[in-house]
Amino acid sequence: MKVVSIFNQKGGVGKTTTNINLCSYLAMQGYKILTIDIDPQGNTTSGLGFDKTTIQESMYDVITTDQKLQDIIIKSEIIDNFFIAPSTLELAGAEVEIIDIKNRESILKDKIKEVENEYDYIFIDCPPSLGLLTINALCASDSVLIPIQAEFYALEGVGQLINTIHLVNKSLNKNLAVEGVVLTMYSNRTKLSNEVYNEVNKYFGEKIYKTTIPRNIRLAEAPSFGLPILLYDEKCKGAECYRELAEEFLMRQKR
Ligand SMILES: Nc1ncnc2c1ncn2[C@@H]1O[C@H](COP(=O)(O)OP(=O)(O)OP(=O)(O)O)[C@@H](O)[C@H]1O
Ligand SMILES: [Mg+2]
Repeated sequence: MKVVSIFNQKGGVGKTTTNINLCSYLAMQGYKILTIDIDPQGNTTSGLGFDKTTIQESMYDVITTDQKLQDIIIKSEIIDNFFIAPSTLELAGAEVEIIDIKNRESILKDKIKEVENEYDYIFIDCPPSLGLLTINALCASDSVLIPIQAEFYALEGVGQLINTIHLVNKSLNKNLAVEGVVLTMYSNRTKLSNEVYNEVNKYFGEKIYKTTIPRNIRLAEAPSFGLPILLYDEKCKGAECYRELAEEFLMRQKR
């Protein structure tokens, strides 16, 4: 069992898209997958077809009360082996509510311990911030998978991101590793994408996945139908690339 956080405090870089699609390909391959939506935006929750307004118990209850993680997990009805711990907007209030709790950074870690033997991989979709919810995710994880958008401002915040990983390494979770870096909305042909690649390479080198994710409109459309790309349009370029990323992810586990 391995816990992986999809982490980048920068917004809109493809965390949720990567989470949904990587998880669904791994589940399709027969791995038992749990994804934990720790983002109050709940984009993983809605992107997998769940109506946030009808969810009764969510990660908010798990983080702020003694609610057990296993009691809020719902099974995907569209993909086998795929389970989700949903989030709703309520979760936005959680950071303030837990501020005075003694083990406020390790609440999620303790909750995951109760279910970890049930799954092959647990993926956590982080919010675009460095607040307590993200720290809980990093504290509970074996590794971070970092999506970086190939755009002019891509490197802005990467220093801070690395710094955060080092800080967590030092104080809360010395085992936290970098799982990999995936370049998203990437175009092989543009000078900008190549420049971003070279810059990211200086920071992460071999950790960068060979598979890059192109800008693909089908990837952006799929969540509005509550579907992962493999059910929305399995033949499109975006689907092909996320399938490859899942394979590359699995290859690395064997090393
Ligand atoms: N490869 C892609 N091609 C086209 N659109 C994409 C791609 N990846 C993501 N998007 C779109 O870009 C937007 C941001 O993506 P996403 O929600 O995955 O990012 P995020 O990092 O999770 O954002 P946030 O920080 O708000 O949680 C979404 O509208 C998504 O559909
Ligand atoms: Mg997101």
